[in-house]
Amino acid sequence: MERDILTIIVLNFKTYKEATGEAALRLAQTCDDVAKEFSAEIAVAPQIVDIHPVAEVVDIPIYSQHVDGAGYGSFTGYVTAASIKAAGATGSLLNHSERRLKLADIGAGITACRGFDLKTIVCTNDVATTRAAAALKPDYVAVEPPELIGSGIPVSKADPEVVRGSVAAVKKIETGVGVLCGAGITHGEDLKAAVGLGSDGVLLASGIVKAKDQRKALEDLIGGLR
Ligand code: G3P
Repeated sequence: MERDILTIIVLNFKTYKEATGEAALRLAQTCDDVAKEFSAEIAVAPQIVDIHPVAEVVDIPIYSQHVDGAGYGSFTGYVTAASIKAAGATGSLLNHSERRLKLADIGAGITACRGFDLKTIVCTNDVATTRAAAALKPDYVAVEPPELIGSGIPVSKADPEVVRGSVAAVKKIETGVGVLCGAGITHGEDLKAAVGLGSDGVLLASGIVKAKDQRKALEDLIGGLR
């Protein structure tokens, strides 16, 4: 299955104070403005309780930071695909390095999301886990070496082989799966380098969320698309 994948930028709000509650709304609005002004594909991943208020004010795609495979019924403390869909999410991250899951749980989460027409981005930490994740046929895998997360050192420069290797591994298994990369991505040149390695986009957080001027940082980043 071949498909035409646009370069996407997914901004993970994590639990940063600068992207929680009211600040999440402001940052999501900034992303929405910049996406519209520059015709860029920007998606946001706010905390789960912020999905609904964010969905009220933006048109860009919204990813949950996590989802479980549980359905309706006797499950306590789970995040269901039904609930994130109802809140306004268009997809979910799964298996983020800061929220690891077992392979079977990733599979169940992907299946649950498919049932609600939600996109899935499965995070991986190396080529081998990328290969395993791609076999589950999510919409995207996002490879992020944990040691570079939050470091400001871009994976596209520090570890180009993990990106190239992930792209090659996914192509061999299922060409309909997109490949993102993340960790330390901040500037336009980091995004450009990621795309040059065959990546379909980036998953990032601190470079934008923690920036003094979030809009300016976002504009710098998307400069890498030109
Ligand atoms: O989910 C994105 C992430 O883990 C990378 O974080 O702060 O290095 O962009 P950061």
